[in-house]
Amino acid sequence: MRYSELFHSSLSKFKDGSVEKKLEIEILIREAFKLSKTDYWIKKNDVITDEKALQKFSGWLGRLLKAEPLAYIIEKKESFSREFYVNKNVLIPRPETEILIEEAAALVKKMAAPVTVLDIGTGSGIIAVNLALETGARVAAVDSSKGALQVLKRNITRHHVEDKVFPVCADLFPPVGNPVIESGLFDVIVSNPPYVSPQEWENLPPGVKDYEPRQALIAGEGGTAVIERIAAGARDYLKPGGSLLLEIGCGQAVRVEEILRRAGFVDIEFIKDYSNILRIVRSKLK
Ligand SMILES: C[S@@+](CC[C@H](N)C(=O)[O-])C[C@H]1O[C@@H](n2cnc3c(N)ncnc32)[C@H](O)[C@@H]1O
Repeated sequence: MRYSELFHSSLSKFKDGSVEKKLEIEILIREAFKLSKTDYWIKKNDVITDEKALQKFSGWLGRLLKAEPLAYIIEKKESFSREFYVNKNVLIPRPETEILIEEAAALVKKMAAPVTVLDIGTGSGIIAVNLALETGARVAAVDSSKGALQVLKRNITRHHVEDKVFPVCADLFPPVGNPVIESGLFDVIVSNPPYVSPQEWENLPPGVKDYEPRQALIAGEGGTAVIERIAAGARDYLKPGGSLLLEIGCGQAVRVEEILRRAGFVDIEFIKDYSNILRIVRSKLK
């Protein structure tokens, strides 16, 4: 069998022959046979001889057919043009979160070094690691999931930020007097928290609902329960005038603005995502 035949026979197994599916199958072939993009195109009509790789590909294709996300199958996902290790213990990094990272990085770059950041619900660590690399900030990266922290640690090593990103296992906020950032107060708190309501969860596509961790996504009625807890607790962890940046769900802006005002935040500004949805909120502690 040739690579091009493998591609077409694999594609024919899916009802959906979309551009995305074609790309996913191409990536699976390239990953299984360890081919660069260019090699794949050059060798398209070569006969496949690597039986072991073919077996690996068949296993992976079976998983893709069951709607498992590609990132979990190949155990990686790009964020900010950097490759991150991912597995089922963490949310797959989303493009919207890059807007949150960009906003946080722009803010940190305007501050006098050394800047300290608290990343709440760090997951794979895309926010913490990218921020450390983009700005040189020291980041306490908190998650309550031990599995997620294992993934974070792999990404800290992969991106050589052991002296900048510090994993903390905690319920939203690090223990008081945390040893990670000596002062215990941060210049910036950033979070992409769980913000999906149980009703919205029911309507999520199978690739999300059946594979991504529930605790990374669901946050009580209306989806704002975790945001409320972050806003209420943040003042004890922020320096005066410190900033809080959050990613929020579709349609939550009005409610989130109210939550932030009540918690003593000012200069509240929303930023739209690529689909024109108010997705990121920036605010300052009075
Ligand atoms: C939406 S995911 C975001 C992951 C990552 N920051 C990203 O943007 O890809 C939310 C994360 O919050 C963590 N989390 C949920 N509840 C938490 C809690 N009470 N304390 C700490 N982390 C929590 C989950 O384990 C998950 O990793």
